Amino acid sequence: MNPTTTRRAFLASASVAATAALVGCKPEASAGNTIKVGEYASLSGTEATFGQSSHEGTLLAIEELNKAGGVLGKQFELVHEDNRSTAGESVTIVKKFISRDGVVAVLGEVASGRSLEAGPVCQAAGIPMISPSSTNPRVTEVGDCVFRVCFTDPFQGRLIAEFARKTLNLKRVAVFSDVSSAYGDGLRQYFSDAFKAGGGEVVVEQKYSSKDKDFKAQLTAIKAANPDGICVPGYYNEVGLIVKQARELGIMVPIFGGDGWEAPELIQIAGADSLKNTYYTTHFSPIQDTPEAKKFVAAYKARFNGKVPDAMAALGYDSALVLADAIKRAGAAEPAKIKAALSTTDMVGASGRTRIDAKRDAPKAAVIITVENGEFKFLRTVEP
Ligand code: PHE
Repeated sequence: MNPTTTRRAFLASASVAATAALVGCKPEASAGNTIKVGEYASLSGTEATFGQSSHEGTLLAIEELNKAGGVLGKQFELVHEDNRSTAGESVTIVKKFISRDGVVAVLGEVASGRSLEAGPVCQAAGIPMISPSSTNPRVTEVGDCVFRVCFTDPFQGRLIAEFARKTLNLKRVAVFSDVSSAYGDGLRQYFSDAFKAGGGEVVVEQKYSSKDKDFKAQLTAIKAANPDGICVPGYYNEVGLIVKQARELGIMVPIFGGDGWEAPELIQIAGADSLKNTYYTTHFSPIQDTPEAKKFVAAYKARFNGKVPDAMAALGYDSALVLADAIKRAGAAEPAKIKAALSTTDMVGASGRTRIDAKRDAPKAAVIITVENGEFKFLRTVEP
């Protein structure tokens, strides 16, 4: 986008924000024949698979909804844009959605850091935002316009800690975390607290940043501390390299983490052999056998050339269904009414039952995945 457009978008949204501050929430929108919804996602760049999967899920839901007649007699119009996994872009995009497109709600993002960027813009304008899969608690603390349809990291951190302590029977672990993302740094803390509370010990802590490629120095320090497992709260690109380099250094202990591991690229980057004895928690597995999950998996495969959906796809899909459900119950596609309806959401989608709680989060079951022979394997479901 050129600087003029950026400036215009910014000025316009500043006045939207000023109006919203006067009246509480943006009063009117979508007077036309469609219900405009904005979706910002990382369709390219470092976390491209997050945005691509999430977008495909959202798109499928919107197409299905429209085919079934839309809601309130109107069709959905999905306006979507790529933030290229780049800091700052999400703010620009969401300001444009609000000022130029007049969207009644915003869907996004996967990565907590980017949801934390755009959340305040939606909040200031009184436009409800639904994050499909950002798990850092601060995302919805931005204000009463920001919702999510997934569990949060205090739950996920506890789950990883319990799995490490009780199932893997680990006592002395290393924590090697991504300090450049709100997600990685938060999950580091939640995991460590829960692991210690469960009687375990964190014997060494090391840190890295997004886009790092060489982890041997930190891994050597970790090896020297002789832990019986390594927790890596981070995203798949770096995680893949870390697992690979750890094995190259002869570190064979279990390595585990959270939903940020989830991407087919993880296997390509780390290699099937290195991923032996690795585990992560996430939101969804395509082999879950609820009727809604089965229906979603079949529809997704049919729509996207046989591709098997992942957690981001399932949650992207559910974020759109939750929005449609709220608009239907609100009886109007108006931001303030949608916001009110969202806060009483209780519906079943591809990823399970979404009940929005008082913090605008959606406590729900998690799944534990391992990698065997170069394939992700579902181990079990854990209820909240
Ligand atoms: N929960 C991660 C975050 O908050 C994003 C993520 C969700 C990654 C689902 C993979 C799968 O940043």
